[in-house]
Amino acid sequence: MSTIGTPATPGAIRTPGTLTTSGTMTTPLKGAVEDLPLPAIGEPIIEVRNLSKRYGRNIVHQHLNLDIRRGEIVTIVGGSGSGKTTLVRQILGLERPTSGTIKMFGEDISTIEPERARLMRTRTGMLFQHGALFSSLSVFDNVAQPVRELGKVPADLLRDIVMLKLEMVGLPCKHASKPPAALSGGMVKRVGLARAIVLEPELLFLDEPTAGLDPRSSDEVVELISTLHRALGLTVVLITHDLDAMVALSTRVAVIAERKVLVAAPVEEAACVDDPFIREYFLGMRGRRALQALPPERRAKLPPAALAPASVGARPC
Ligand SMILES: Nc1ncnc2c1ncn2[C@@H]1O[C@H](COP(=O)(O)OP(=O)(O)O)[C@@H](O)[C@H]1O
Ligand SMILES: [Mg+2]
Repeated sequence: MSTIGTPATPGAIRTPGTLTTSGTMTTPLKGAVEDLPLPAIGEPIIEVRNLSKRYGRNIVHQHLNLDIRRGEIVTIVGGSGSGKTTLVRQILGLERPTSGTIKMFGEDISTIEPERARLMRTRTGMLFQHGALFSSLSVFDNVAQPVRELGKVPADLLRDIVMLKLEMVGLPCKHASKPPAALSGGMVKRVGLARAIVLEPELLFLDEPTAGLDPRSSDEVVELISTLHRALGLTVVLITHDLDAMVALSTRVAVIAERKVLVAAPVEEAACVDDPFIREYFLGMRGRRALQALPPERRAKLPPAALAPASVGARPC
């Protein structure tokens, strides 16, 4: 079992001034949790064993294994179409594996009774790749929806729950009555995050949370994920192409290539694996630039090729 890294400080690699200083989109929670220790790493709460998944002739996963422990932020990376979203959909029970087992909170999700499966879902939150807000519903009703699905909740309690979550994600309450179309991309992600945490989950899945955002909004979302991780003691499974987000947030990176998890390790260890995708992703110019945000003791473990100046072309390991 590999050691587990400490995330770099979110935003540390951005050029000065790209992080917000306006105060309009920051959350008061950030200041409150800044000095808290990171959640302790605990027992495995997701165990994927020998997973295979195929669609017709298309074999997406074969002999895939992955453990995710309580308190971690594990980033899943891999080429487009490598099966990142499909893996998360299987973990959430939205797709059936062709073979293999997946346990969540110690229970095999393929044999679990429907009532227990429903309970388990309330312990998880998900931010889908494209936000997936209901365009016909207001921000308030989008965030309230998972609570309403649980049954009847008094209106004033529901209001308190939703407004608290909007405040936690730094969205001013004046936006609560607006439709998603009236919001910026960054705000839509915040609403998606508020909805994902509305039931106070232990485990949060985020599929491309910074995709399509400008650098400043991306930084804000990365900060927010880091803040929520600390404040709620969350375990986070993050799918992203965003190298800066990966370096800033991950305790470990799980690289999907050749239909399986090639390596699941702290960024500096994953970058050492001899594989074409890893070389291109971690050791290309953008990868090397992003890796500069790691603290010195972790940078020291990077392969020499990762330390070449970010302005020159990649050299082999
Ligand atoms: N419902 C589906 N039916 C058929 N093929 C699918 C389905 N969902 C995903 N795939 C295929 O599985 C592969 C992995 O897709 P996906 O998990 O979305 O990749 P990623 O998220 O890594 O970009 C792709 O080849 C995609 O076309
Ligand atoms: Mg995807």
